[in-house]
Amino acid sequence: LSRLIHELERMPLFGLGCSSFGGVHWGSQSDRDSLAALEAAVESGVRHLDTAAAYGAGRSETVTGRLLKRRPGLRQNLMIASKSGLKGSGANFLKEIDKSRRRLNCDTLDICYIHWPVSGIDPRPSLEALARARETGSIRYIGLSNFTPRAIIEANSFVPIDACQFGYNLIWRNPEKELIPLCSKLGIARIAYGTLAQGLLCGRIGPQTSFPPGDDRGLTRFFAPGKREEVFKGIAELNEAAGQRGMSLIQAVRLWCATVGTVDQFLIGARNRRQALENFGPLERDMQLTEELERTGERISRLFAGEDNFFGFKP
Ligand SMILES: NC(=O)c1ccc[n+]([C@@H]2O[C@H](COP(=O)([O-])OP(=O)(O)OC[C@H]3O[C@@H](n4cnc5c(N)ncnc54)[C@H](OP(=O)(O)O)[C@@H]3O)[C@@H](O)[C@H]2O)c1
Repeated sequence: LSRLIHELERMPLFGLGCSSFGGVHWGSQSDRDSLAALEAAVESGVRHLDTAAAYGAGRSETVTGRLLKRRPGLRQNLMIASKSGLKGSGANFLKEIDKSRRRLNCDTLDICYIHWPVSGIDPRPSLEALARARETGSIRYIGLSNFTPRAIIEANSFVPIDACQFGYNLIWRNPEKELIPLCSKLGIARIAYGTLAQGLLCGRIGPQTSFPPGDDRGLTRFFAPGKREEVFKGIAELNEAAGQRGMSLIQAVRLWCATVGTVDQFLIGARNRRQALENFGPLERDMQLTEELERTGERISRLFAGEDNFFGFKP
């Protein structure tokens, strides 16, 4: 096992995703709620915090950094991950890493990812910059986020990659085909985002839900015409199966995550204390429910066979 996989194995399976703290693409957000979510998550045992420079132009990193400044004793037990946008020059990428470290109040980032591949930008200067940062200790591990299997192979033959992050959940299973087996073969840690399908797997969003301006969730593939009805019919079935066992849909989804054994960490978003306590609280086992969820989840996922990501982006 790689050193990173070994470290992740010793942590709880669920990490806190901090994208909503940026307050863009996902509705407005108060820093007070973000800090309360962070506090509740770490109180509940969360050890992995995932943010990015792009989340609110540094705002998510800044608020996460406030927690680390306020509670300096926490740092040594946490895995702090951030992401920078691909740059044409390595020097510019290194400057972005330094800005993230300052905002996060961290001398060292545990994982630093290239956030997205960009067509027409060669990733190699940024990969060289990441390798230099790993050598000099400003980061510990190099990550790729949203890269295709082919791009991962190319990058990994240039600079050894430690982690890959991709969208993956009960109803979006495409990474199981190629991406996850590839990472496993290469010894690269597998980090899943969108564990609750951006809130769809909470049972309160339906096919007719209209999101307020500034919340782009309705643009994902889950709402694609001709598919959304099937998606929400399946989610209603999942919700009912969970309810029959006295569980919330979120608890049932977490249960599936805890038994599927395909990735090293699942990131879950929480935008306030209440959500964080529910998302990172104790979990009961129920194998029969897991099998029911698996069948329905796979059925929904087949609607999207062959698609790269649930945002519908073509990098
Ligand atoms: N690498 C990448 O390109 C990438 C892309 C996406 C995400 N990520 C990472 O993965 C993390 C998690 O993924 P995600 O942001 O897509 O979120 P997610 O975990 O799939 O969904 C989070 C959303 O679900 C709703 N929710 C969560 N807990 C809830 C609860 N207990 N009760 C009711 N609703 C609840 C909230 O929606 P409301 O806001 O409506 O309350 C919350 O914002 C991100 O924060 C980020 O760190 C990375």
